[in-house]
Amino acid sequence: MILVTGGAGFIGANFVLDWLAQSDETVINLDALTYAGNLQNLTSLATDQRHIFVHGDIGDSALVTSLLAQHQPRAIINFAAESHVDRSILGPEDFIQTNIVGTFRLLESVRAYWKGLNGETKQDFRFLHVSTDEVYGSLAKDEPAFSETRRYEPNSPYSASKAASDHLVRAYHHTYGLPVLTTNCSNNYGPYHFPEKLIPLMIVNALASKPLPVYGDGQQIRDWLYVKDHCSAIRRVLEAGRIGEVYNIGGCNEKTNIEIVHTVCALLDELRPLSTAHSPLTTPHLALPTYRSLITYVADRPGHDRRYAIDASKIEHELGWRPTETFETGIRKTVQWYLDNQGWVSNVQSGAYRTWVEKNYQGRL
Ligand code: NAD
Ligand code: DAU
Repeated sequence: MILVTGGAGFIGANFVLDWLAQSDETVINLDALTYAGNLQNLTSLATDQRHIFVHGDIGDSALVTSLLAQHQPRAIINFAAESHVDRSILGPEDFIQTNIVGTFRLLESVRAYWKGLNGETKQDFRFLHVSTDEVYGSLAKDEPAFSETRRYEPNSPYSASKAASDHLVRAYHHTYGLPVLTTNCSNNYGPYHFPEKLIPLMIVNALASKPLPVYGDGQQIRDWLYVKDHCSAIRRVLEAGRIGEVYNIGGCNEKTNIEIVHTVCALLDELRPLSTAHSPLTTPHLALPTYRSLITYVADRPGHDRRYAIDASKIEHELGWRPTETFETGIRKTVQWYLDNQGWVSNVQSGAYRTWVEKNYQGRL
């Protein structure tokens, strides 16, 4: 079996769902259920014996040690993190605690477990650390995309904490021989994306006729990857990546933020035109020709990175991985998913998802 941390969050949940759709190998899912952890992402696995959910912190060494001893996983995929840049600017401490101290404690527990393994089990064991392109800092307009040898230059408390975690993972390989793999990925989008991040926020705000807040001039560039392509890349790195190596993962989809917002608006204009989405009695926006009218430029994010872009040639040449979705197909699926899952959105917005676990499991235990 494998141990996934942070598997109730956006990418982790997509990873667990995809893993169990393709394999019968059991997943132990360790997640602290912070505001970003949502077990409703995994309702389809509620009675699936191949999914073992454990509510807990990666920094809880006693818990992690006992989980490792009990389940003897062959691999660990570490998604658990605080992940939102704006939150890291308003309050960095949780980021230091989970992303740095938590990763350190997890590595210590894993090192002790791995040391006690023997033969092939020890040789085949892997610790895969999921990281971000933000550790490389910001690119100028004409600079080449980030390769794995790009120097680290993190600019936000979030990216600095992820950079520190990457360094710890590297050091545990270099010093102790722990068989690690690190992936640095660009911006993901897709189902179960928490609506504090750009794409889901724009979709849910537009549907509620709320302003669409674009930071600064909206000309910042991100390299967007459909989340299921990120999951397939991680599976491939786990399967065939070389120990101690770093693999950059990206979608070759550089877009400005304002282009993203325009695309979301155009898809909503097509799939949920304003005239049918709102009652003339309750909205003064009926006459709006397009969701674009909701776009509102707001003060910029402090220290805002201007451009990210990933050079994914290493993972492509070495491991034969390529994304399957184009931005056009992926964003259409994503907007449709939010339209089809309004219940999930309202539970997230009302906070009801946080009490869902108790409600669902109370009678079952
Ligand atoms: P997320 O915020 O949606 O989910 C994080 C999950 O980790 C949540 O379920 C949360 O409850 C859990 N968690 C937080 N602290 C924990 C702790 N101390 N112990 C156990 N669980 C804890 O994040 P995401 O967007 O799914 O990102 C997952 C990982 O991928 C992160 O490491 C992030 O840095 C990285 N990443 C994200 C993106 C992106 O675009 N979202 C891109 C590249 C890399
Ligand atoms: O690059 C990978 C990173 O992508 C991950 O490591 C992070 O975990 C993930 O959150 C994401 O970080 P970003 O800061 O790029 O994502 P976010 O969705 O917060 O913002 C995307 C861009 O949109 C960014 O330039 C800021 C801008 N933005 C964001 C929000 C929330 C706006 O203009 N308005 C907004 O309201």
